[in-house]
Amino acid sequence: MIHHLRAAGTSLVLDASGSGTPVIVHWGADLGELPAADLAALAAASVPPVGPSSLDVPLRLSLLPALAEGWSGRPALGGFRTGTGTLDPALALVAVHEGGDNTLVIELADADASVTVSTELELTVQGVLRLRHTLTNSGAGTLELAGLDAILPVPDRAAELLDFTGLWSHERRPQRSILGQGVWSRESRHGRPGHDDSYLTVAGTPGFGFRRGEVWAVHLAHSGDKVVWAERSALGHAALGAGELLAPGELSLAAGASYTSPWTVAVYSDAGLDGLSARLHPWIRSWSTITGPRPVLLNTWEAVYFDHDLPTLSRLVDAAAQVGVERFVLDDGWFSGRTDDQRALGDWFVDADKWPEGLHPLIERVHAAGLDFGLWVEPEMVNPDSDLARVHPDWLLGSASAPTWRGQRVLDLANPDAFAWLLERLTALLAEYPIAYLKWDHNRDLLGGSVHRQTAALYRLIDAVRAAQPGLEIESCASGGGRIDLGILERVDRVWTSDTNDPLERQQIQRYTSVLVPPEYLGGHLGAATAHTTGRTSALGFRLATALFGSAGIEWDITQASAVELDQIAAWIAIYKEHRALLHSGNVVHADGSDPAIELHGVVATDGSAAVFAQVALAAPRTALPAPIRFPGLDPARRYRVRPLLVGPVPRTVQTVPPAWLAADAGELVLTGAVLAEVGLPAPLLTPEQAALFTLDAV
Ligand code: DGJ
Repeated sequence: MIHHLRAAGTSLVLDASGSGTPVIVHWGADLGELPAADLAALAAASVPPVGPSSLDVPLRLSLLPALAEGWSGRPALGGFRTGTGTLDPALALVAVHEGGDNTLVIELADADASVTVSTELELTVQGVLRLRHTLTNSGAGTLELAGLDAILPVPDRAAELLDFTGLWSHERRPQRSILGQGVWSRESRHGRPGHDDSYLTVAGTPGFGFRRGEVWAVHLAHSGDKVVWAERSALGHAALGAGELLAPGELSLAAGASYTSPWTVAVYSDAGLDGLSARLHPWIRSWSTITGPRPVLLNTWEAVYFDHDLPTLSRLVDAAAQVGVERFVLDDGWFSGRTDDQRALGDWFVDADKWPEGLHPLIERVHAAGLDFGLWVEPEMVNPDSDLARVHPDWLLGSASAPTWRGQRVLDLANPDAFAWLLERLTALLAEYPIAYLKWDHNRDLLGGSVHRQTAALYRLIDAVRAAQPGLEIESCASGGGRIDLGILERVDRVWTSDTNDPLERQQIQRYTSVLVPPEYLGGHLGAATAHTTGRTSALGFRLATALFGSAGIEWDITQASAVELDQIAAWIAIYKEHRALLHSGNVVHADGSDPAIELHGVVATDGSAAVFAQVALAAPRTALPAPIRFPGLDPARRYRVRPLLVGPVPRTVQTVPPAWLAADAGELVLTGAVLAEVGLPAPLLTPEQAALFTLDAV
């Protein structure tokens, strides 16, 4: 039978009419309603010719391409059975179960190799395709699994690739390449996705942008090691693939045992990267754990680092309350013996020297000021210089002689005793103190032990902590944005997007992180004028405008801010509170400008009733008069009132006279969405590292 799943402009056609592994005949643009006869004709017509010097039957890329099918590209399944050799089963189709909700479950089995595979495939109403395989060792003896990946075909015209790399405090750097013949494979062995995570691998028509081109993208919803790749085979097929990266011997399946791969999340758009977000964000929002407005928080890290004392922090609480902050997060430095970043991880007891009465006096102060309280933890880590490491050296992963990283090693969460001890410590803290939020950090690569087991145990641990403390919010942090993926996102309410609060770096990091993850998850903080990570000094207005587009917060000792600055911060927080419902529910949009120095991004309400946009000058423009601002994503038929939105000081410009529509005596400007998108409005001449904000309200 031929199965056709359709949703939100996407079609998936699966040919399960043969006796072998089904074939995805089409994943891409919606093909419209197709009667069974047309589907059968499509499947029959898609059988390719037999080429010269090749297999004697037409070669099609199946759902689990394998050598046994004649596929000499990268296989979906790898492994071996002790004594009998490589695992390369010729899988036969047993059954396809069609769920009512655009889901398929495909059962495959191979009697000789004694494996069964069940593939779950779903095209969500938002147009997001997700699939995963479960392999069961149904034979005798142990099966060593080396990989079980999802592979999806992309058409020949998807000739350009985009994925991401990066480093600490510079995450999500885009890189483009041509998808030539061969494999472009991105492999993460960090034990976390890492700062250089490939994140989202996009193949598209050449020159695709935020709003133009056809694009096919995959992401692996997993927080451990992984491989994501693109392949164009000389045989003529092109594909995207993703799966957990399993170390040799890491996954032994005893007779009867099963392994389920992480979900591969795949999205098609005919309208560039914004089109991917337009499907991903509503889908993520449909299962998001976020329940209420994202509170403005103040995090103590760059304000005080390890210098915790009640009077200092109380002054910070008061300043935070004065400007309208809603949550106070005590970062690293509160637990027993933690005087710097080289000791005490693992000793999750409140430090009696810094906090003789525990955290109660601080939390009471926080509550009295009307804020709730958050606490930093790094549960998976242990410093060798800690009581925990001294008492339980056997609970640490990897060899004792291996180099440490930030002076720390990793707790073996797969050790049931270590797991139970840690769960008890975390739940005891949560029981003793009214903690609304945990910032859950992870500051090193694993580099030893089983990442597979550690990741599974981490998920169990977070699930157990949340179950013990309903309503608790968690932020995923890994030296900034080293663990941002859709596996962790199911379990957390915020991600720390990057350790850099430098707005210039942040503009790029937020732009690309938000292609996949909706902005309400993306922690973005107002930092000090001179960024601690880069030493670059930025204007307050640019810092405020940048931190507005996310889950906003402050990470700066604002007791040192001037009265004028405090007023401007308070006004910014008021604006954030006024607009956060829109910013955290709308469509994220970007213009494809011709000048890389000028960015335009915004959020448009899903019903088209309102929008907030930022015109950002990253550097000096290419032309004296920058191109007009063309506002994407509006309802073309509606009329919008366009107004500047001032956060902080007036943005610095070099114009002698502003554009007429922004002149002090200009009247109200109302234009249709079509005019604003197609013709646009003359841009103010911002100097580098300035941002101008605009609100657009349908009238
Ligand atoms: C790394 C995080 O990314 C920072 O925000 C901060 O929490 C430090 N760890 C604390 O050690």
